[in-house]
Amino acid sequence: MDILYLSGSPRKKSNTDYLLMQMLSETAGEFIKISDYWIEPCGSCWKCLKLGRCIIDDDMSNELMPRLLKADALILGSPVYFNNVSSQMKAFIDRTWCLKGKLRNKIGGAVVVGRNDGAEGAITAIHAFFLKHDMIPANRGVHGYAYATQEIEEDPEAMESAKKLSARILELGKIIETGSVPATRKQYISGKEC
Ligand SMILES: Cc1cc2nc3c(=O)[nH]c(=O)nc-3n(C[C@H](O)[C@H](O)[C@H](O)COP(=O)(O)O)c2cc1C
Repeated sequence: MDILYLSGSPRKKSNTDYLLMQMLSETAGEFIKISDYWIEPCGSCWKCLKLGRCIIDDDMSNELMPRLLKADALILGSPVYFNNVSSQMKAFIDRTWCLKGKLRNKIGGAVVVGRNDGAEGAITAIHAFFLKHDMIPANRGVHGYAYATQEIEEDPEAMESAKKLSARILELGKIIETGSVPATRKQYISGKEC
């Protein structure tokens, strides 16, 4: 399975990057730091509706969009900024408007890190991205508590929940690949484990 980890944190030694890298070590995949790329904001020109592609000539159109289309799972990680995702992540999300219908049934994972407040807003923004694209959100997402760089290492619950998200992504990948639901779920559906 081709898993793409996208971080919306602009800083070095970022807490968000740390959690995403932890997950990547368990699932394999590719890590992309959005701030390393030139991404213009969506100009709402609506030309994509006619042309089927974005007319902006930047790294988002030329490099990231083709990469997104190839991936089986997109894990979006962002620091919490004013109860939402970072502006880098928001610009990235908005620019995928022209890909409507093309990310369908890819698996989505949400990871956010904030100091103390507003994580729900950031998770909701990422899940809205998944749902707008008819993607499959793997679970309710990971919320880490951290302020200074690398502080996330002292949040064992975030690590634990990142592990659960990794496992769930692999599980969904297998279900999609094989077209078969694991036995425990089948038993549940048939009422044997209710
Ligand atoms: C512009 C800005 C806005 C922020 N807003 C919030 C916020 O609303 N809630 C919160 O808990 N933390 C907020 N923070 C703190 C960051 O979420 C926190 O430092 C986080 O660890 C950053 O993640 P990173 O290391 O991956 O960049 C804000 C930080 C910045 C720079």
